[in-house]
Amino acid sequence: MPPGADRRCGHSPWPSPVCYAPAAGAREAGANHPNRRHGRGGALPCLEGSDGPMGIPRRGDPLALFHEWYAEAQQLDIEEPTAVTLATADARGRPSARMVLLKGADENGFVFYTNLASRKGRELQENPYAALCFYWMSLGKQVRVEGPAAQVTDEEADDYFATRGRQSQIGAWASKQSQPLDTRFALEKRVAKYALKFGAGAPPRPPFWSGFRIRPESIEFWQAMPFRLHDRLRYARGADGEWTTENLFP
Ligand SMILES: Cc1cc2nc3c(=O)[nH]c(=O)nc-3n(C[C@H](O)[C@H](O)[C@H](O)COP(=O)(O)O)c2cc1C
Repeated sequence: MPPGADRRCGHSPWPSPVCYAPAAGAREAGANHPNRRHGRGGALPCLEGSDGPMGIPRRGDPLALFHEWYAEAQQLDIEEPTAVTLATADARGRPSARMVLLKGADENGFVFYTNLASRKGRELQENPYAALCFYWMSLGKQVRVEGPAAQVTDEEADDYFATRGRQSQIGAWASKQSQPLDTRFALEKRVAKYALKFGAGAPPRPPFWSGFRIRPESIEFWQAMPFRLHDRLRYARGADGEWTTENLFP
């Protein structure tokens, strides 16, 4: 039985008497659900055949739940469902955030690729902890991931680099990511230089370009619910590697 499933009422995912289902005679079920504002329309998914809005399904494995949500985002034809905010911090703990694209997620962690000499690359080498925040607005869903970050193996980075388009491969060589750039022309000259250098052959992965894997110590799922009484479920990984869960106030 999933955590929290034992004492559900017929409408709510919470192990408590809290129930968001409308009273008999109330307006159409889910009319106030935040998803409606984002044009999702139609009947909201319900628990156990009830007419109440659904919260987060309780699962033993947060990765399985992440993939369920990610699959939903892909089905909705959301542009760049893999886009995620990555937060890092320097050695003094000063934070910075930017978007990256997620290139893999499994029990070992969440992977993205970048220039190792970029600001994020340098910060992760100084202070190897990171946070990710996904938000799929039309689903009313947010996922937050936190944990230590480590560089992927050279083989993994080579394999991924080989799947990139040629222009992106040349771009990786040409960009001194995060360093000051005098003119756009200076960048274009570097692109031309590397295009010439690699000719018709496949550009190898630059030694300054690789990926990072964030091994989650916590993963929090957030589902928009009516009246801002959002559903939050945080998984924390213990020293034994086992996941425990707790609900959080919205
Ligand atoms: C949707 C989106 C996806 C991006 N994906 C990546 C990525 O996967 N890797 C990357 O290095 N930069 C990516 N960028 C650019 C970064 O946001 C950022 O500008 C760049 O990496 C430099 O960041 P830094 O100076 O903090 O290192 C992306 C930007 C956007 C808007």
